Amino acid sequence: MNIVNRIDELRTMLTAEKTNGKTIGFVPTMGYLHEGHLSLIQAARKENEIVVISIFVNPLQFGPGEDFDQYPRDIERDETLAREAGADYLFYPTVVEMYGERPMATVTIHERTDCLCGKSRPGHFDGVATVLTKLFNIVVPTRAYFGLKDAQQVAVVEGLIRDFNFPIELVGVEIKREEDGLALSSRNINLTSDERTEAVHISKCLFKIEEAIASGIIPEVAVAEGRGYLQGHITGTIDYLEALSYPELKPITDVRETIIVAAAVQYSKVRLIDNVIITHEQPRG
Ligand code: PAF
Repeated sequence: MNIVNRIDELRTMLTAEKTNGKTIGFVPTMGYLHEGHLSLIQAARKENEIVVISIFVNPLQFGPGEDFDQYPRDIERDETLAREAGADYLFYPTVVEMYGERPMATVTIHERTDCLCGKSRPGHFDGVATVLTKLFNIVVPTRAYFGLKDAQQVAVVEGLIRDFNFPIELVGVEIKREEDGLALSSRNINLTSDERTEAVHISKCLFKIEEAIASGIIPEVAVAEGRGYLQGHITGTIDYLEALSYPELKPITDVRETIIVAAAVQYSKVRLIDNVIITHEQPRG
């Protein structure tokens, strides 16, 4: 696996690969890799000849007072995991390499961001879209892989790729969970042990709502019941628990459309998110 810190160096290497007709699968991450990331690398490995992973904790997507400084980092461990999972290139730039002293141009997202995480993290998706625009232009991958735990991010990236005509296929990969159902996240390490124990109720609540909707209960009612369950089982603060259309992220007008039920819970040091996506064609269970 090649470890590359510089944009021009990565470009030269990947241009050579593309000249040889190779397809490129790209997995953008902020590091502190877990099984969820590894499943993205493995999916990219299956479908492409070359796999590129980036590790960059992007300051532009963290608001004031958010966990940019506490965001877990361990590049040596990440290198080993990325290599073992089959990545060919690890792009690991510094903030100055990516943005210079200060970026002059940034991307603004106008839709799908006034709800869920976008509501409590103003500017977050502009930061995500800005770094991804740069990374897409640097790597120019055939396919880009994103975890569906960040389903709002996937919805935003879908619009970004379409609106900016990136010649990239977006691949959303299923959420990886701990045995008890907690969605894997680099941030889980910052939960206290009590928080970790009770956090299982977030996914339990989402699965209950999913079942209720599948059995014909209207989403609004199912979510209200789910909220009661969650409030009774966790001490963290519910930032949101909502059902919306997906990927548009608008109020549901037709229960036959694809629906996301998404939750965010704020704990002492960490905010957890999780979701289930319900498609009319393939209801769970
Ligand atoms: O999902 C993440 O880890 C980040 O938002 C991403 C896509 C790597 C952009 O910084």
